[in-house]
Amino acid sequence: MKFDSPAGQNPIDQLKVVGRPTDRIDGKYKTTGTAPYAYERHDVAPNQAYGYVVGAAIAKGRVAAIDQEAARRAPGVVAIVTTLDTPRLERGMMNAAFLFGGAEIQHYHQAVAVVVAESFEQARAASHLLKIDYVAETGKFDLEAEAPGADPVPGDSGEGSGGPPENRIGDFEAAFTAAPVKLDERYTTSDESHAMMEPHASIAAWEGDRLTLWTSNQMIAWGKRSVAKIFGLKPENVRLDSPYVGGGFGGKLFIRADAVLAALASKASGRPVKVALTRALIANNTTHRPATIQRIRIGATPDGRITAIGHESTSGNLADGKPETAVSQTQLLYAGANRLTSMRLAHLDLPEGNAMRAPGEAPGMLALEVAMDEMAEKLGIDPIAFRIINDTQEDPETPGRRFSQRQLVECLRLGAERFGWARRNPRPAQTLDGRWLVGMGVAAGFRNNLLTKSAARVRLDREGRVTVETDMTDIGTGSYTIIAQTAAEMMGVPLDKVHVRLGDSDFPASAGSGGQWGGNNSTAGVYAACMKLREAVATRLGINSADAVFSDGQVRSGNRSQSLAEAAAGGDLMAEDFIEYGDLAKRFQQSTFAGHFVEVGVDRFTGETRVRRMLAVCAAGRILNPKAARSQVIGAMTMGVGSALTEKLEVDTRRGFFVNHDLAGYEVPAHADIPHQDVIFLDEVDPMSSPMKAKGVAELGICGVGAAVANAMHNATGVRLRDYPLTLDKLIDRLPDVA
Ligand code: MOS
Repeated sequence: MKFDSPAGQNPIDQLKVVGRPTDRIDGKYKTTGTAPYAYERHDVAPNQAYGYVVGAAIAKGRVAAIDQEAARRAPGVVAIVTTLDTPRLERGMMNAAFLFGGAEIQHYHQAVAVVVAESFEQARAASHLLKIDYVAETGKFDLEAEAPGADPVPGDSGEGSGGPPENRIGDFEAAFTAAPVKLDERYTTSDESHAMMEPHASIAAWEGDRLTLWTSNQMIAWGKRSVAKIFGLKPENVRLDSPYVGGGFGGKLFIRADAVLAALASKASGRPVKVALTRALIANNTTHRPATIQRIRIGATPDGRITAIGHESTSGNLADGKPETAVSQTQLLYAGANRLTSMRLAHLDLPEGNAMRAPGEAPGMLALEVAMDEMAEKLGIDPIAFRIINDTQEDPETPGRRFSQRQLVECLRLGAERFGWARRNPRPAQTLDGRWLVGMGVAAGFRNNLLTKSAARVRLDREGRVTVETDMTDIGTGSYTIIAQTAAEMMGVPLDKVHVRLGDSDFPASAGSGGQWGGNNSTAGVYAACMKLREAVATRLGINSADAVFSDGQVRSGNRSQSLAEAAAGGDLMAEDFIEYGDLAKRFQQSTFAGHFVEVGVDRFTGETRVRRMLAVCAAGRILNPKAARSQVIGAMTMGVGSALTEKLEVDTRRGFFVNHDLAGYEVPAHADIPHQDVIFLDEVDPMSSPMKAKGVAELGICGVGAAVANAMHNATGVRLRDYPLTLDKLIDRLPDVA
């Protein structure tokens, strides 16, 4: 099905099942420990052995020799594969670092060997007996030091944001110079780690030259193509299966070392082999969100109209890596005739930077939305009013090109009312609650909505049950549930008559999970397949599909009613289709918007910051399942608190690695850090996005929220911090006097 004109009335609009706050249909499996994650799939292949990955102990250079003798003699050892006995393997899609093979080391903890044994403990013990000689070279590990020599580069986050090295509209410099009120500030964001609960894990088994990987991956079709490329296999000889994923956050968009080394180890040992990356390997062996140095310049008239807006970002990466696309949202978020955005990339020998939790917008909004707060303060205008003055209903770079829906102003207004913004003292450092300096902050939320092809297969059986199969993944997001809701709505059956099977590359290729595109696109693919199934049902029942009504397990046409099950009495009915898109996303800018509100308390003696209340008001098209969407946004808001206050990979700039490579040293917010969180969804449908009229919603919850924390801290203390994370050491010397 091609979606190339705005959606009209369709069966989804009934909203009998879609749009309802529905519990997750996979919830009971997760809470009872019966949802099998990759490493626990003991039943899929007999006689599994355990692989233990060894990471390089240098950041740059080469492996001179690996002495395997002692390790080979260790108890239980089945096989050892080293990078020196393996030619350098091709890379998977959209990755910069080589995962394995050859002597060259590109980054710390790059895999150099896998030891296979009868048990995990034996494999780990034997790995310590490998004697590895390295020849280390000097590398570049310090973004601040390399930034001045960084080259202008185009960028693409792989998740929709990106652009040329430099983008100019009007005459930015002249307009900025002439502006009566100006801001020119520098902001920095940290290297961050995905820190998902389930580590990267795979079980591999070969049958001849056919490879099966039971793995944990967000993008099955990408993964299948990547595995075929890495091992020189025909794609039809590769199968990936990933029905449950314990978080990905961008870290599992790609095939990584666990899958590659499980496959090599399985080949070498002639047995199925399972490999999980240990927690300590995840930070340096896999990808991470790269740090940024951002400069923002805003010029405005005294009444608050932006006349010039400039956003420049520098990040670092390996030679073939991409920049962090932190400036993209600045092309779309606010009006202003004169505009500049640019990206620069410094060559670093740190582990690969790549997509993490809303790449581009998440770190970009950390800077832009603090700059907007600072500018509002300079102008003496309320920060919500300042954003409203500069709202635009069209793409500010392309006059006449409208947003499909843009309710940023409504989000900010409703949020202000619900959060009690009127109670905020615009003068900082005025509100005390015991030892706490209390402040409120606001930021806009913004993330694009992406349209991408997605396929599904649906089957109706003689009991009137509907089975949906698609390679879509559920990474903790609720895909199983919204897909079941979609099929139930389309076929007129209750939710418990729908069976959803996901994550297997033998199923039709879906949009996958990334860039907040999964929900809208994967359900639109199911919609397309169900439209075909409805036709097949109508044909089988001898009625016209156009006037057939599918409801309560019945199909009605005129005054005739037959049960849906009857249509399959003579054998299952099957339909497969995909959604693909015309040029609506070109004709209309499709984005999602939020107002993020945060109240913090800052300890006036120690500088410790505690978030006290949070509210996100979101405008993101039709919300397919308000309960699942709310959970998504709450998770994203929590990650936003992490990026504002605690999350930072500390770089050892002498030896070139991330030091705090575990969940003790890399601090993600815990329950005790997170207070009351509210989410409100505006009543919105977007007929430009898909027949579902839904848009992405999850990552919207992280984009802007960290800036709202920073702005609340400024309101609480009068101290403006621009260097994330905003830890107490940056605050304590600058707090108002306590005596
Ligand atoms: Mo992407 S960071 O997997 O949504």
